[in-house]
Amino acid sequence: MPADLSPIDKAKFAAAHRAVALIEDGMRVGLGTGSTAAWMVRCLGERVREEGLKLQGVPTSTRTADLARQVGIEVVSLDEAKWLDITIDGADEFDPELNLIKGGGGALLQEKIVATASDQMVVITDASKEVNHLGGFPLPVEVIPFGWQTSRALIEELLESMDVLGRQTTLRLNGSQPYVTDEGNYIVDLHLNRIGNARQLALVLNQIPGVVENGLFIDICDKVIIGGADGKVQVRDINEGSVSEEQVTFAEDDNIFADLD
Ligand code: A5P
Repeated sequence: MPADLSPIDKAKFAAAHRAVALIEDGMRVGLGTGSTAAWMVRCLGERVREEGLKLQGVPTSTRTADLARQVGIEVVSLDEAKWLDITIDGADEFDPELNLIKGGGGALLQEKIVATASDQMVVITDASKEVNHLGGFPLPVEVIPFGWQTSRALIEELLESMDVLGRQTTLRLNGSQPYVTDEGNYIVDLHLNRIGNARQLALVLNQIPGVVENGLFIDICDKVIIGGADGKVQVRDINEGSVSEEQVTFAEDDNIFADLD
């Protein structure tokens, strides 16, 4: 493992390294977004360069597309790939059923479409993302700019009847301007603290006109790989009901920084 990484980056790297071992020649792979997913893209790029692995990557953001190209992964659109063998992505929270909150990086819409179009979704993470109940992390909701304040008011009205601990909402900003997603939309973050019924909330939020998607990923994730700074990883598979522990070993000269040259 590269020695000069911070403990948190070592943990993310360990999870990413284990996850790319799932990739086989010829696969179509969904490429997630965020700092953990970026490690996965680098690790996958290393396999492409060193093993001559032939695969197609479908990125979930322009950031990930740029990184994937830099490290030598062939990038195609979801419409070109049509269906994916696997998607590997990070998460902001995961619960015991492997339901997720995603979208801290603003890419939830493409991330959900790509993950749903995959035979399996694998989440890579460090241990800090594990929770008993979702909701500590603000829940992102993507809304179209037209009438966004009305959409936000309707979301707040809906939350009055929901089993949540907090009901504050904030428009995500980029400096003093609204943050704009890759699809040209805004994000309203819901500060709920604890979500009693995530499945119900995920469904009703998407019924509000102007809401494009929300960051609750229910019954989408198949496997979570939790990395530790010491290279230990735990693999939880919700379909098999299995939990296994492994030690990831890395070559000291791992050339995963090709994009940083
Ligand atoms: C991106 O929109 C998110 O869903 C990320 O996957 C999530 O925020 C995790 O990001 P980190 O790996 O940077 O924590």
